[in-house]
Amino acid sequence: MLTCDHITKQYGKFRALNDISLSVSSGECLALFGSNGSGKSTLLSILAGSIPPDSGDVRLNDAPVSKSKRSIAYIPQNIVLFEELSVWENLLSWSDAPGSQAKKQAEWLCDRFDMHEFKRKRVDRLSGGQRRRVNIAVSFMNDFDYLLLDEPLSGVDLVGEKSLSELLAHYKQEGKGIIIAEHHIQFVLPFADHILELKEGSVHFEGTPEAYYEMVQSIMV
Ligand SMILES: Nc1ncnc2c1ncn2[C@@H]1O[C@H](COP(=O)(O)OP(=O)(O)O)[C@@H](O)[C@H]1O
Ligand SMILES: [Mg+2]
Repeated sequence: MLTCDHITKQYGKFRALNDISLSVSSGECLALFGSNGSGKSTLLSILAGSIPPDSGDVRLNDAPVSKSKRSIAYIPQNIVLFEELSVWENLLSWSDAPGSQAKKQAEWLCDRFDMHEFKRKRVDRLSGGQRRRVNIAVSFMNDFDYLLLDEPLSGVDLVGEKSLSELLAHYKQEGKGIIIAEHHIQFVLPFADHILELKEGSVHFEGTPEAYYEMVQSIMV
């Protein structure tokens, strides 16, 4: 189980996160909602062990997350690719596995994300949407138990959206825990078991997708 308890985070005098607690088990999906600046990316990078919280702790199966970072696949909002390398080289450079196993996984991801036709191209020669697809795919090169995705659909075309949706269903069924921050509510709701909405760094809503949907509907009427 991936949990965080009473997390706070300040940037200077600005409090970006205020007393956030959550937990996700194997095979569960938590959707993180909230407007721009509400603290979603800060929370995901703390959960991934990329930045430390000011107080509170993050634990993976009861151990500090800093000791088990390898069990977490984290897809950040920004592009993290080597621009002068090809798609294929990027995929392989991300892998910790021996060559043949890495190639097999890269092939599988090229199938899944429909990347064969541009896999030999340098990343800096790709279209924006193609780069986004590669940025998502590299995170799946290594095995993981928990998957954290930060607005994975931004700049992704319909092909990429469909690939990601199929892959999330696949990994969820395999028992991976998923936390996804995404504005595209209709994309996330079919996978989500729980919703957590942030507002100005605090929890604004926590509950089931059905309860969330009802709340959204009542606001829209
Ligand atoms: N490195 C940083 N330094 C200072 N302020 C930051 C930094 N990162 C984020 N913030 C601020 O913290 C708040 C939350 O940001 P973020 O977690 O990126 O929100 P979201 O992902 O929901 O858009 C915003 O007001 C943002 O300006
Ligand atoms: Mg963000």
